[in-house]
Amino acid sequence: NQLGVVAVGFSGGQCKPGVDAAPMALIEAGLIDQLKEELEFNVTYDGQVHAYTEAIPTEDPDYRNMKKPRAVSAVTNALSQQVYEHSMAGRFVLTLGGDHSIAIGTISGTAKATRERLGRDIAVIWVDAHADINTPESSGSGNIHGMPVAFLTGLAKEDKEDTFGWLRDEHRISVKKLVYIGLRDVDRGEKKILRDNGIKAFSMHDIDRYGIGKVMDQALGWIGSDTPIHLSFDIDALDPQWAPSTGTAVRGGLTLREGDFIAECVAETGSLIALDLVEVNPSLETEGASETVRAGCSIVRCALGDTLL
Ligand code: ARG
Ligand code: MN
Ligand code: MN
Ligand code: MN
Repeated sequence: NQLGVVAVGFSGGQCKPGVDAAPMALIEAGLIDQLKEELEFNVTYDGQVHAYTEAIPTEDPDYRNMKKPRAVSAVTNALSQQVYEHSMAGRFVLTLGGDHSIAIGTISGTAKATRERLGRDIAVIWVDAHADINTPESSGSGNIHGMPVAFLTGLAKEDKEDTFGWLRDEHRISVKKLVYIGLRDVDRGEKKILRDNGIKAFSMHDIDRYGIGKVMDQALGWIGSDTPIHLSFDIDALDPQWAPSTGTAVRGGLTLREGDFIAECVAETGSLIALDLVEVNPSLETEGASETVRAGCSIVRCALGDTLL
């Protein structure tokens, strides 16, 4: 029961300050203590919230429509190496974000480590209101937290080393091993990307129609048993009723129980190797901040094997 925790106080993948404070809020709510005491994890955590300020360039003009391209590239590159080291040591990797651009670092790190350590390709379950698969060219906002999946799958590529050129084949995942759950605000260009690449996605419509139980059966069936899974959980997948404090809230989302249920089902596979919890922003909708933090803690505990009985 070895767990590596990485706290990432980074908000440069989008425009609203405050997501950088999420790791501290989650930790102060008792998350790491609960994992140690209640779930009996042996935790490796350096006690820091990483902002990677030393890696962030002063000069960072927009490039190919991307905002803060060099900062996000540098931060995710440093994070990728940290996650890689935990994963190579055989630890489950829990990363507390930060905005969703950090998944470029976390998933590239586990993808590379799992290939080296087990000779296996990972699968990714992306739980989110958004698909985050814009290319720099298809993005309307230029915010890189809307692009991580495009870089991770190789649908977006860049040669410049300091602008994601450090991403190599060993860091990437296949579009065939990616499953979305909870989508409800997908940009037009993203819909085309999903369709053209045959990417498996369960929207809120599918959850309404089949129920979360059948959706999880189908999602896990698509991945197949015995494939290492990286779960990337954007708190905005939950309805704003449960998680109001997030930068791009969208109504009509998952209930608290549906969110926990997704995490429980993935935990039950026994194949989960890493979890990201991102986009909690305690400085937004401050009356709901503690509830948002509480929802985040609950999802993490469920994904790490906490059960109701
Ligand atoms: N699709 C929009 C964009 O590309 C919103 C992305 C929201 N992403 C997120 N990780 N919350 O800007
Ligand atoms: Mn989102
Ligand atoms: Mn939109
Ligand atoms: Mn997201």
